[in-house]
Amino acid sequence: FISTNMAKPSVYVTREIGPEATTLLKNFCDVTIWAQSEPVSRADLLSNVQGKDALFCLLTEKIDKEVLNKAGPQLKVIATMSVGFDHLDLNEIKRRKIKVGYTPDVLTSATAELTVALLLATSRRILEANEEARNGGWKAWSPFWLCGPSLNGATVGIVGFGRIGQEVASRLKPFGIKKLIYTSQTLKKNELDAQHVSLDELLSTSDFVIATCALTPETKEMFNDDTFKKMKSSAVFINTSRGGVVNQDALIRALKNKTIWAAGLDVTTPEPLPLDSDLFKLKNCVILPHIGSASIETRNEMAVLAARNIISALKGENMPSELLT
Ligand code: DGY
Repeated sequence: FISTNMAKPSVYVTREIGPEATTLLKNFCDVTIWAQSEPVSRADLLSNVQGKDALFCLLTEKIDKEVLNKAGPQLKVIATMSVGFDHLDLNEIKRRKIKVGYTPDVLTSATAELTVALLLATSRRILEANEEARNGGWKAWSPFWLCGPSLNGATVGIVGFGRIGQEVASRLKPFGIKKLIYTSQTLKKNELDAQHVSLDELLSTSDFVIATCALTPETKEMFNDDTFKKMKSSAVFINTSRGGVVNQDALIRALKNKTIWAAGLDVTTPEPLPLDSDLFKLKNCVILPHIGSASIETRNEMAVLAARNIISALKGENMPSELLT
């Protein structure tokens, strides 16, 4: 028996999350939403989270001890609308026995699609070519103008061969790549004929190096002066994971000095990337504003999954996607 007078649990939502997820939450909780297009300020987050039973957040919010202290001991669940969780202080959260939900799987295909798009835009110089077509740089068809390396016959190295890395690989296979190699903490059973190799081997033999690994203390700045030097000077580096896996100054040096051929980045440090960043001055660098999962359907599925994570946790049921660490 559940008394109808029982107060609904409360949830704080740090951005507009679309009508479907909002309705789901409203049917079960008292919902407070930060309904602005800008991320919630730290001060507003700290004041609005107080006394809430649940927190629905995005990767733009750092959830640490201070936020948890402000929220109070009744906070039962945090659901992030992302597969990445480097913005959450998991030690602190788990210590307080707060449940954590995240949104794997639903964004895998969208992120893999974008990774392929970014790779081709970078290798085939699509943005640069578009610019030339518009600015009068297009004088005549020319044998070697705006050429770039082909995927056909290439060796592709994927760093972090999880859900997204494997989907990227299967989407690249039909392009006629010669060899697929990967590094990962564990050997992955796969039907892609991908070979597990050491990081050094991957770096020195890949024509395309693609980072799809999570940002952890182990992967932080793993792409640095040393690792860029180990890559081929013809290598294209693609990052759709987190900016933090790259030492950005080292990447700028590598692109300027042609230590590597080009880079395509969907993620940077910080985000947004300041307009005066040297990366924007480099023709051999394509930069996107963290849109890996930005398909309309996917973003809605992410919001709904995060809402379901919250509702299940508040009901004391199994969460559809609980982050177990
Ligand atoms: C994530 O989910 O972690 C991505 O970076 C945004 O979709």
